Amino acid sequence: MSKLRLGVNIDHVATIRNARGGDDPDPVRAALLAEKAGADGITAHLREDRRHILDHDIDALMAALTLPLNFEMAATVEMQQIALRHKPHAVCIVPEKREERTTEGGLNVAQEENQLAHFIAPLRDAGCRVSIFIAADTAQIEAAARIGADIIELHAGPYCDAHAEKRFMARDTELNSLREMATYAHSLGLEVHAGHGLTFDTVGPVAAMPEVVELNIGHFLIGEAVFMGLEAAIVEMRRLMDEAR
Ligand code: PXP
Repeated sequence: MSKLRLGVNIDHVATIRNARGGDDPDPVRAALLAEKAGADGITAHLREDRRHILDHDIDALMAALTLPLNFEMAATVEMQQIALRHKPHAVCIVPEKREERTTEGGLNVAQEENQLAHFIAPLRDAGCRVSIFIAADTAQIEAAARIGADIIELHAGPYCDAHAEKRFMARDTELNSLREMATYAHSLGLEVHAGHGLTFDTVGPVAAMPEVVELNIGHFLIGEAVFMGLEAAIVEMRRLMDEAR
């Protein structure tokens, strides 16, 4: 089985910094520590309302990182221009509603196929790998393949929520659809990633899916850093991923 990459999402280091203003804690320092701890990539989401990552964080990450940056963004003209200026390794297109606390659902590619096809073309021309964050759903996967996305990131949130709420039958149903849709997307030539809500308790079964080659994990790791330190939390996540593989 191919090695499973770990992308560490550092958004919530910026959330803590922004709660006070100023410079601490520094998301770039967290990214460099993540690299030392065994991360294979760094993910950062520049939201339209700049609630965590700020524009200067992206400048600083692009300048400091040796790991590839996965730049998460909404499909807006402003974000497209920022991405084209920086040309990060990958751009992950996510839905964004101002009122939501986090990315709640996957992107509806099937409904916005034409607009998204036009939106991602210049990003791909600029050399960015384009990833689309979607629910584990046949219609969304087929639409992602048709618009020319390189990657789909499957939304692991419904599986993780069901686990957290002890709805175990629903959890197993969600896990099965992630598994089936990972296989289906791979058969269409898409690279398959997964993320959102993953924890030490939920990462194993997703890490065991052979078609999934990257997991993007943030909130839990930053939270766990309070108790065990960021480096130790990442090392443990990496260990659980490797063990499941
Ligand atoms: N992948 C995507 C597309 C996301 O939007 C997020 C949250 O920003 C993550 C992964 C990471 O999710 P979490 O912070 O819950 O681990």
